[in-house]
Amino acid sequence: MKNTVSTLMQQKQSGDKITMLTAYDYTTAKIIDECGVNSILVGDSLGMVMLGYENTLPVTMEDMIHHTAAVTRGAKNSFVVADMPFMSYQISVEDAVKNAGRLIKEGGANAVKLEGGAEVCDRIEAIVNASVPVVAHLGLTPQSVNAFGGFKVQGKNYEKAKKLIDDALKIQKAGACAVVLEGIPAKLAEIITSKLTIPTIGIGAGNGCDGQVLVYQDMLALTTGHTPKFVKKFADVGELMRNGITEYIKETKSGAFPAQEHTYAVDDEIIKKLAEESDNDENC
Ligand code: KIV
Repeated sequence: MKNTVSTLMQQKQSGDKITMLTAYDYTTAKIIDECGVNSILVGDSLGMVMLGYENTLPVTMEDMIHHTAAVTRGAKNSFVVADMPFMSYQISVEDAVKNAGRLIKEGGANAVKLEGGAEVCDRIEAIVNASVPVVAHLGLTPQSVNAFGGFKVQGKNYEKAKKLIDDALKIQKAGACAVVLEGIPAKLAEIITSKLTIPTIGIGAGNGCDGQVLVYQDMLALTTGHTPKFVKKFADVGELMRNGITEYIKETKSGAFPAQEHTYAVDDEIIKKLAEESDNDENC
C-alpha cells in the first residue's frame, strides 16, 4: 500500500516510528521500497554522494528532477520526498511554487522538502496551497553551510534552541506535513516532537523523534573518510563491493571468468561449416 501524508501522521499518533532513507536511482529505490521503508528522500545530498561535490550548493533543479524520476519509477509504496535545491525557492514565492510543481509533475515526487524556519513560511504556505505536501527541514540545514561557517550542531544555546522551537511551530502553522530535524541536541528534538502534531524525522537528533532518516551510502558504509557521529554502519556494503570487484579483476586476468556456465553454446555442425568455409577462403 502506498504510504501517504496520512500514513506518516497516523504513525506519529500511534507511536510507530517512521523510517526514511535517501535514494537517488531506480535500483536502490526499488530495494529500499521492497524492504518496506516508509519514505524515500531524494536528498540534495546527491550533490555529494552521487556527483562528488563538496556540498549541496551546486545541485540544480535538472539534477533533482532527473534523479527523482528514476527513484519514483522504482518506489511503489514508499512516500517519495524530493529536495528543493539551493536557490530554487529562496528568491521568490513564485519560483518556489513553480519549482515544487516541477518536482511533482516531471519527477513524480509525492512531496517536496525545503530548508528553513520562519523565513520560508510564505513559501510553504504557497506550495501547500498548490496542493503539494511540504516537508520542512530545521537545525543543521546543509544549504546554509556558508552562513553557519561549517557543518555544526545547531540549537546549543538558549536563544538558538528557543528559535528552533518557534520555527517548528511556525512551519507547522504554515502547513508543513512533517519536519526533518538535523544536527540538534536530542533533548531539544524531544521537546519539538512533543510540541508538534506533525511528525518529526531526525538525523543526528536522537531517538525522541517520530522517525529517522539516514543517507543510505553512510549507513551501508559506501562512503569513505569522515562520517558524522550520528551515523550507524548497519552493513559494510563498501567492503563487499571492493571484494567483489577485486575478485572480478583476478578472474578476468587469469581467464577463470567467464566459465562454461556464463557462455552461450552453438551447434558443432555450424562451427565445423564455418571453419571449412574459412579454410576454403584462405586457399583461394
Ligand atoms: O539531502 C539530504 O539527504 C537530506 C538529509 C540529510 C535529511 O536533507
